[in-house]
Amino acid sequence: MAALLHIDSSVSAHDTSVSRAVPETFRHTWAAHHPDSTVIYWDLAADPVAHITADAYAVDLADLRTHTAEQAAAFTTRQRLIEELERADVILIGAPMHTYTIPSTLKAWLDNVILPGRTAAEGSALAGTPTTVVTSRALSYVPYTAEEGHDFVQNYLTAVLAHTLRLDVSFLVPEFTLAQRDPALAALLPLFEWSRDRAHQDAAARARAAARYRVA
Ligand SMILES: Cc1cc2nc3c(=O)[nH]c(=O)nc-3n(C[C@H](O)[C@H](O)[C@H](O)COP(=O)(O)O)c2cc1C
Repeated sequence: MAALLHIDSSVSAHDTSVSRAVPETFRHTWAAHHPDSTVIYWDLAADPVAHITADAYAVDLADLRTHTAEQAAAFTTRQRLIEELERADVILIGAPMHTYTIPSTLKAWLDNVILPGRTAAEGSALAGTPTTVVTSRALSYVPYTAEEGHDFVQNYLTAVLAHTLRLDVSFLVPEFTLAQRDPALAALLPLFEWSRDRAHQDAAARARAAARYRVA
């Protein structure tokens, strides 16, 4: 049975959030190809995972038997998140830009699941897992805009997801979302709508491709 790990991290509600809506398109398309699939879902804004602690960090895979009671308890949460990640055939992440980078709730999840020697290791079970990241933002960060060079979402997540976890990562980037709400940016509304609509189309296409790629 195919498994999708779907993570949202927007602080906005479902009916207004672009980084929730575009993954929904992916998820529905993917589920249509896998009616018997399982979905593991995290809404990190509503249900954040614990920040990494010294006890959770001090885990050495070779020394499980030497864990203190505190370390063992702290690692239980981490272990659960790692197992969910390892079970996933397809990964879908809503990662809106917050202060030029990812939401801190998503960073806390990443700190938990990155475990050298296991998830961050050559030959890891995660290698090559198709992963789609939807990263909405109020403005635009493409070349020749005033914010060029300030997008620390895509380069950061490429380092963490592609380099460290060896996932097969692609990004969908709906931009100018602020144009929906700020009359001063009304002229940018068509650009927002174009990038949002294209993100939905690409999400559906990637869901179909992921269905072919990983699961017979
Ligand atoms: C705490 C916070 C920080 C933000 N920082 C930025 C930023 O640095 N650059 C930007 O373009 N948008 C920023 N935004 C706006 C969001 O990226 C934008 O509203 C996006 O559409 C949110 O995703 P959503 O539509 O899924 O809720 C920020 C929003 C929040 C809540």
